[in-house]
Amino acid sequence: MKFAQALTVLSLAGASLAQGQFFNGKYTQSNANTLDTAVAAGGQNGRDPSVKTLLGLASPYSNVTDALKGDNTILLAPSDSAFEKALAMPGVADAVKNATTLTSVLQYHVIPNTPLDVNQTAGSHVYRTAAGLPIKINSQNGEVTITSSPKNTAKVVEYVATTNGEILVLDSVLFPPENASTTLGQLELKALADLATKLNLVQTLDGFQNVTIFAPNDAAFQAIQSTAAGLTPETLTQIVTLHIVQGIYYAEDIVKAKNATVPTALQNYAIQATLSGDGKVQALPVPAPANAKAATVVSADNLFKGGVIHIVDAVLIPQIGDNGNVTIPTTLAPAAATTMSATPTPTGTTAGGNSGAGVSAKVGVAGLVGGIVAAVAVLVL
Ligand SMILES: *[C@@H]1O[C@H](CO)[C@@H](O)[C@H](O)[C@H]1NC(C)=O
Ligand SMILES: *[C@@H]1O[C@H](CO)[C@@H](O)[C@H](O)[C@H]1NC(C)=O
Ligand SMILES: *[C@@H]1O[C@H](CO)[C@@H](O)[C@H](O)[C@H]1NC(C)=O
Ligand SMILES: *[C@@H]1O[C@H](CO)[C@@H](O)[C@H](O)[C@H]1NC(C)=O
Ligand SMILES: *[C@@H]1O[C@H](CO)[C@@H](O)[C@H](O)[C@H]1NC(C)=O
Ligand SMILES: *[C@@H]1O[C@H](CO)[C@@H](O)[C@H](O)[C@H]1NC(C)=O
Ligand SMILES: *[C@@H]1O[C@H](CO)[C@@H](O)[C@H](O)[C@H]1NC(C)=O
Repeated sequence: MKFAQALTVLSLAGASLAQGQFFNGKYTQSNANTLDTAVAAGGQNGRDPSVKTLLGLASPYSNVTDALKGDNTILLAPSDSAFEKALAMPGVADAVKNATTLTSVLQYHVIPNTPLDVNQTAGSHVYRTAAGLPIKINSQNGEVTITSSPKNTAKVVEYVATTNGEILVLDSVLFPPENASTTLGQLELKALADLATKLNLVQTLDGFQNVTIFAPNDAAFQAIQSTAAGLTPETLTQIVTLHIVQGIYYAEDIVKAKNATVPTALQNYAIQATLSGDGKVQALPVPAPANAKAATVVSADNLFKGGVIHIVDAVLIPQIGDNGNVTIPTTLAPAAATTMSATPTPTGTTAGGNSGAGVSAKVGVAGLVGGIVAAVAVLVL
């Protein structure tokens, strides 16, 4: 980035910070690049918080340090005390002796090629890290938090603007998101987790990549308890399958699209995700049984290793015939076919813009269906 551009970024950041839009805490402006600034922040002038531990861990690995050299890089820099806290956690000190594990964790703290627009970033945005996995930045009344998996959140304690990006100094170390089953546990989605176990779907769920799961909460399952009791494992598996969509759709993708229909892992079924008048995201199966009620997203953008989980307040039910079997339509709803290509694929040029880097609806659901079919086969055997 040219010096003049750097100054523009700095002054915009300064202006917004002064207005308290993004971050209200300690703000430092630096003319050094990200890495040099980090070194300075770690060592010179007795600055606090220090990030020496991070630099010590990163410096032997070019696959981490190189990621810090590009323009518009965001470095999430856990402070020394954050590392001290993390290394005291069970298993962590041993795990990071493995260079691959350590460098993956460090790469997870780098967001490449993302100009952090402090105006757009107020609110919640998901970004793609150098580790290839998503991370969420949330700014609320000038308090900024970074979230990996649901139980792993760090607070930003200092904001350093540099010539090639930003350093957000953190009070905790972030670990990359976990697999689906672990994340369902963290989200306390007990009914869905138990059902997946009963249906022998755990391995299948954990193996998924780049999916969006509309995960019904416990109350949702409670509400269909009597219906569910009469259904076969095959039908229940198909119902779970209806909640899984190929491609990663964060809340802001759906909000931008306003009304998108995307194919699910259940053959020829789609989910229509719409933005309601009061700003809520709602999901409805397509085709829907008569009198179907839309499920409302009650907790959006819960990240996991294989994509994103939106918690919904109702179980989506496909059409079920008199014989108790799910009615499989002969074709996918035309809206799904058309909306698929129209699904926003953010370009990575604005804040949150690379959030949909994993959006791959056009890839289709074949792989996904393969996994589910295998799971059903296991079930039937
Ligand atoms: C280090 O971790 C990686 C990835 O988890 C694993 O594949 C590898 O076997 C580990 N290496 C050692 C020496 O344990
Ligand atoms: C980064 O490089 C080191 C060796 O320099 C290697 O051991 C490690 O596996 C690499 N990390 C990743 C995530 O590929
Ligand atoms: C951010 O918001 C402020 C105040 O609303 C505005 O002056 C500034 O131009 C905005 N910056 C960008 C990059 O949109
Ligand atoms: C999911 O993650 C948990 C915790 O790391 C692990 O114990 C489990 O084996 C993983 N599941 C699969 C199917 O790999
Ligand atoms: C969303 O799009 C579908 C298919 O194009 C249409 O049938 C439906 O009425 C739309 N819903 C809303 C709320 O706009
Ligand atoms: C319902 O589905 C099961 C399993 O796919 C199948 O064996 C059975 O024949 C179906 N029943 C009817 C009445 O179609
Ligand atoms: C998931 O998305 C990433 C990023 O777009 C891509 O590199 C990867 O191949 C995808 N994986 C699958 C199984 O689709």
